[in-house]
Amino acid sequence: MSKKPIILGIESSCDETAASVITENEQGIPIILSNIVSSQIEVHKEFGGVVPELAARAHIEKIDWIVQKAIDESKIKIENIDAVASTAGPGLIVCLSVGLSFGKSFASAMNIPFISVNHLEGHALSPKLNSVLNYPYLLLLISGGHSQYLSVEGIGNYKRLGTTIDDALGEAFDKTAKLLGIEFPGGPQIEILAEKGDPDKYQLPKPIFHKGGCNLSFAGLKTAILKVSKNIKSEQDKFDIAASFQKTILEIMYKKTKNAFTDYEKNNLNNKTFVVAGGVAANKKIRSMLINLCEENNYKSIFPPINLCGDNAAMIAMVGLEKFKLKQFNNLDFPAKPRWPLDESAAFLKGAGVKL
Ligand code: KG4
Ligand code: ZN
Repeated sequence: MSKKPIILGIESSCDETAASVITENEQGIPIILSNIVSSQIEVHKEFGGVVPELAARAHIEKIDWIVQKAIDESKIKIENIDAVASTAGPGLIVCLSVGLSFGKSFASAMNIPFISVNHLEGHALSPKLNSVLNYPYLLLLISGGHSQYLSVEGIGNYKRLGTTIDDALGEAFDKTAKLLGIEFPGGPQIEILAEKGDPDKYQLPKPIFHKGGCNLSFAGLKTAILKVSKNIKSEQDKFDIAASFQKTILEIMYKKTKNAFTDYEKNNLNNKTFVVAGGVAANKKIRSMLINLCEENNYKSIFPPINLCGDNAAMIAMVGLEKFKLKQFNNLDFPAKPRWPLDESAAFLKGAGVKL
């Protein structure tokens, strides 16, 4: 029996301090030995969003304890860890620096390889933690900071098919929640309120619905919500806005995902696998709509389990495991990268004046 790699993953790119130890079984299926996530919601709640300096302080206060807990719970001896993988970007630089420095110091002290991980690649590979997933596949990454369709050709090999030209989908959920007076982070609450509302009450805009291929835009929708939210008179009004917003999102994502299928199939007609990852992949209505769409179009649909949709370190360790097997190690001078696109060759598509 060959010794299987044991990887420590560390994540601190935004407002979660996380550490995880993973390995794999004889068949090469990953096994999570521990997965500790400490959320900073309480720290940022009163400010209605993440405050970078406070986030960095909270990471510094917790990181030793979180890594220790991940190692203890894994029941692995510290000297049996084969490599450390830390998120190096994208994210808030003051936050990234905490987990990155910790990972580098750990690797140096233990004399083991250090691996820098792109947080988005962590999300992209997160379904591998519970499903057999071969390359290539079409990925929809929907989180608080990113919304992209990517053709995933292999580790480190991404071709972006579409992206948001303004807000990310999670951001649209969070901003709508804020306008409805829901505490940060409100995205998951919208799903709950929508259950009690009338989805046909408000007709909301669907920006770039008939153009722009599988590129996305949510800023106009947010402005429309701002207008209708000025007339809220009852709790029921809030439920109706939440339900109408979510219905509009479902219609946009249905159409745009169909467009993404068409683009992806130009080069991958025989590999029809669709993976959805990132925090918004936890939304049950979005999940079931996309599962139905996959059935209609003969795609295999794969989602990470709900607890691995949000930020965690098991997904960072997962990238570390794949890179370890390929001997893709990094030097200890690898910098934190606040901006680090998965497809470096894709055009920057944000801000006023974007032509689609
Ligand atoms: O991937 P993630 O944990 O962090 C980033 O890397 O951004 O995603 C967080 C985002 C937030 O915007 C949050 O509101 C959204 O995911 N989210 C949801 C749901 N759960 C989390 N949005 C809609 N419905 C949900 N159930
Ligand atoms: Zn994330």
